[in-house]
Amino acid sequence: MTKPPSPKGPSNGPTRTTPGGRKLGQKVKKSKLKASSRRWLERHLNDPYVQRSKHEGYRSRAVYKLLEIDEKHQILKGAKRIIDLGAAPGGWSQISARVTESTDLDPKVAAIDFLEMDPVPGVRFIQMDFLDEEAPRKLMDALGGSPDLVLSDMAAPTTGHSRTDHLRTMYLCEVAAHFAVDVLRPGGHFLAKTFQGGAERELLTFLKQNFRSVVHVKPPASRAESVEMFVLAKGFKGRRHSDEGEEADTD
Ligand SMILES: C[S@@+](CC[C@H](N)C(=O)[O-])C[C@H]1O[C@@H](n2cnc3c(N)ncnc32)[C@H](O)[C@@H]1O
Repeated sequence: MTKPPSPKGPSNGPTRTTPGGRKLGQKVKKSKLKASSRRWLERHLNDPYVQRSKHEGYRSRAVYKLLEIDEKHQILKGAKRIIDLGAAPGGWSQISARVTESTDLDPKVAAIDFLEMDPVPGVRFIQMDFLDEEAPRKLMDALGGSPDLVLSDMAAPTTGHSRTDHLRTMYLCEVAAHFAVDVLRPGGHFLAKTFQGGAERELLTFLKQNFRSVVHVKPPASRAESVEMFVLAKGFKGRRHSDEGEEADTD
């Protein structure tokens, strides 16, 4: 796995240069842009992870979050089938296709987003809302077998009301967790975006019941000022058919 750049970037002065030859420390001219949009654009242009993702042919800086989490927790190695929830523009799908050696003829990755996504070789993409009741079946049909990794980088579109945004993203995380428990192979892993404060207690209890270990992670590529963090549940214990003590499903 390649090493990500330091989140602070190389320490060679305020106008640093990226591996792709672009200058960092750029200012965006005052124009018709709103101040908040200008700040976003400046941060984006000067972000070493953004520069590096362009240089390395990834579609998003988000890939480095996944790669950094994997470097520490080894969730990608050996994955044979992966589901990517909230996939656009496709960075995590690119990584997933690579680790599973997925091809269009023999796809090992299914991805979903309600936004459009340019095709990623080896990835079956479904454009729909994951909260649609048809979504789980469509994903499983597309994958053609149980995944050993369910990834969710889904974040609800922001409304400007932070409590609402928080609740909506936590809800997505919860639905993704239940989906993972419904479809994962025993021993599989679940990684999902959540917000600061971490997964709600009820969700954590649910994950701890179903996985051997549950931790919260904040990879260096996740901006320090962002409330984003991830919950990682490793080692799915297998489905229990009922509370009456039937044996765990070992499909
Ligand atoms: C941070 S982006 C994902 C970036 C991606 N991991 C990558 O590496 O390119 C989050 C995505 O989640 C999607 N999303 C949010 N809610 C969703 C939902 N209910 N169903 C499907 N996709 C959703 C958004 O449209 C957005 O594209």
